[in-house]
Amino acid sequence: MMRCVSGMRPTGALHLGNYFGALQSFIALERQYESLFFIADIHALTTHYADKDSLVERSRNLLLDWLIAGLDPTQCTIFKQSDIVEHTELALYLGMITPLSWLERVPTYKEVREESDRDLSTYGFLGYPVLMTADILLYQATVVPVGEDQLAHLEIAREIIRRVNHTYRTSLPEPQAYKTEIPKLMGLDGRKMSKSYDNAIYLRDTPDILEKKVRSMTTDTKRVKRTDAGNPKECHLFPYHELFSSSAQCSEICEGCTKAQLGCVDCKKILYTSMLKFFQPIYERVDLWNKKDILDDILAEGAVKAKPLAESTMHIIRQAMGLNE
Ligand code: TRP
Repeated sequence: MMRCVSGMRPTGALHLGNYFGALQSFIALERQYESLFFIADIHALTTHYADKDSLVERSRNLLLDWLIAGLDPTQCTIFKQSDIVEHTELALYLGMITPLSWLERVPTYKEVREESDRDLSTYGFLGYPVLMTADILLYQATVVPVGEDQLAHLEIAREIIRRVNHTYRTSLPEPQAYKTEIPKLMGLDGRKMSKSYDNAIYLRDTPDILEKKVRSMTTDTKRVKRTDAGNPKECHLFPYHELFSSSAQCSEICEGCTKAQLGCVDCKKILYTSMLKFFQPIYERVDLWNKKDILDDILAEGAVKAKPLAESTMHIIRQAMGLNE
C-alpha cells in the first residue's frame, strides 16, 4: 500500500515558489494515494523558537493557503504536528541511533546556522532531520513530496529508517521522494523566489499588487531600447509565460520579442492577464475557507484520523526498542 506524507513549516504566507515547489504535488497526490499533510509547527520552533507571535495563528494561515491553493480536506488528512505527541516521542527515540556525523554533514546545516541572524547552535536545530524522519516513519509513508531543498533531509530519513530496520529487525518502509517536474520558479528579480529577498508573489496577493509586481519584473537586461530585439532565454519574465500563458501565446511572444515587435510593457500586460486566470479560483476560495472555526475543525478532524496510525507505529517501535513487552 502506498501512503503519502508531507509537511510544511508555518513561517509566513505561501508564495508561488512554495506552490510549484511542493504544494502542487500535494494536490496532485491527494487523490492518488492515502495522503496525510501536516503543519510542521514544531519544526518552526527549531529556528523561530524565540518568536512571540502565535504559532496557532500562523498554522491557521498556512492551512488557509493550502485550502485556497486547492488542497481538499475530504481527500486527505490535514493536521498539526504538535497535535500528535508521538512525533516528539519518536524523534527522541530515533535520536538514540542517529550518528551525530550524519546530521553535521547535511549540506545546508552549517550554511544556514552560520548565515542566520538567530542563534542556531542548538540541539533542536541539529536534530531537524531526526524530527522529519519521525514525521515520515510515524505514518510509515512510502511517498514524500518535497521541494528540491528537502532532498538531503529525505536522504537522511531513509538512512535512519534503514538503521532502525537493521538494528531492531523491523521492516518499516523506506520512503521515496516525489519531486515536482516544474523547474525552480525565480523571483521578480531573477533570483530564487524568497521572502527574504522581497521578490516573491504570494498566493494571497490581490490583483493590484499582482499587477504592480508583474510590472516591476526584470526582463532581458540586454534589451535596452524598445527597438532592440530581445531574447526570451535571457528574460526573467518568459519562464512565467511558459507556466501561465498558453503555448500559442508563448510562441507569439517569442516571435514578437526576438523581432522587436512586442515591447516588455505589453508582454507584461499579457502575463498579468494569464496570471489572473490562474489566481481567479484561488481568490474565490478565500471567502469559502477564511473562517477560524472551519480551519480549527479541519485540524481537529485531521488529528483524530492521524492519531491511530501514529499509535500503531509507536507500538511497533516501543516493542522493538524493548520499552514494551
Ligand atoms: N522540512 C520541510 C520543509 O521545510 C517540512 C517538513 C517537516 C517535512 N517534516 C516533514 C516535509 C516530513 C516532508 C516530510 O519544507
